[in-house]
Amino acid sequence: MFARIVASQIYLPQRIVSNHELSESLDTSHEWIVKRTGIHARHILADDETASSMALSACQRLLAEQNIDPSLIGSIIVATSTSHTAMPSIACQLANSLGINDAFSLDVNAACSGFLYALSLGNDRIRHHNDHYSLIVGVDAMSRITDWSDRSTAVLFGDGAGAILLKSDPDTGLIGIRCGSESHGEELLRVHGNLHSSQPCTLSMDGKEVFRFAVDRLYTTSQNLLASHGIDPQSIDWVVPHQANSRILDYVTKQFDISPLRVVKTMAQHANTSAASIPLALHSLRDSGKLVRGHRLLFKAFGAGFTWGAAVCEY
Ligand code: COA
Repeated sequence: MFARIVASQIYLPQRIVSNHELSESLDTSHEWIVKRTGIHARHILADDETASSMALSACQRLLAEQNIDPSLIGSIIVATSTSHTAMPSIACQLANSLGINDAFSLDVNAACSGFLYALSLGNDRIRHHNDHYSLIVGVDAMSRITDWSDRSTAVLFGDGAGAILLKSDPDTGLIGIRCGSESHGEELLRVHGNLHSSQPCTLSMDGKEVFRFAVDRLYTTSQNLLASHGIDPQSIDWVVPHQANSRILDYVTKQFDISPLRVVKTMAQHANTSAASIPLALHSLRDSGKLVRGHRLLFKAFGAGFTWGAAVCEY
């Protein structure tokens, strides 16, 4: 049995903050941000929105569009590192709001690789626990952990949510997936602060070191995954990567010898939305009309931890 992606939906907050707007309060410029990252703008949530409310909006759209019987959803797996409550999990909040009973429901935190960790769990649920459907969500409210006075990180992130529905399929779907973590990297990308005190929690990063790790790990992980399944990189129709930085993707694309036209890039409009970035990019590819059933997709991500992951599937 395979886990096949049968639907996707997204939620992006209404407010769009351009590079020009950021440069009014930070010593930066539209030109610098575009040249170093490829980012033009980001969506930022309103005061009354949370990671949970964004996830719910994406899932409500998805279930309404698909007209799915909630009782057939066997698992809800939410990737996030910015839940505004410690408990219940966003997955359980979704189960409550959507009327889904008896589901295996949990949140996973693997930072920007979180969506692939959630996909891996959803794949296991369908293959080994007979779930008919598994609801996988990537959501992050990065603006809530951004240090808005730090120009080296404030320009990089955005907010959003993406949800996909996996369905058991006898013929095709997810072919392979690998996720892992490193025994170093904790200090290079982290959120400082403490949820048990009134200290603000803000992100800090050694951008150069993270860049180096990302290029190396995105390449080797994808290469190893494809080789272990005997898949020629040239047979990949679309690469749908985590959207951290356009230059990182350009380096990896060159190493991989794959046409840049087959690499989906959405960081210009979304910036880095952490766990939401892959489902947002997938949905934008779907909306473009270029993605058709049977296409081969390669997902890849890296994030704080360090964590990493890659997956290959037939759409
Ligand atoms: N606007 C203008 N100048 C900026 C700036 C900004 N927003 N941010 C940093 N700078 C300045 C620095 O202060 C530095 O100035 P200096 O030379 O006078 O000291 C200069 O630009 C170069 O900084 P540096 O950090 O070396 O730039 P960079 O080329 O490495 O680009 C990143 C910075 C953050 C864009 C880049 O390192 C990066 O993308 N790293 C990976 C980040 C990432 O993907 N994180 C998410 C992981 S999931």
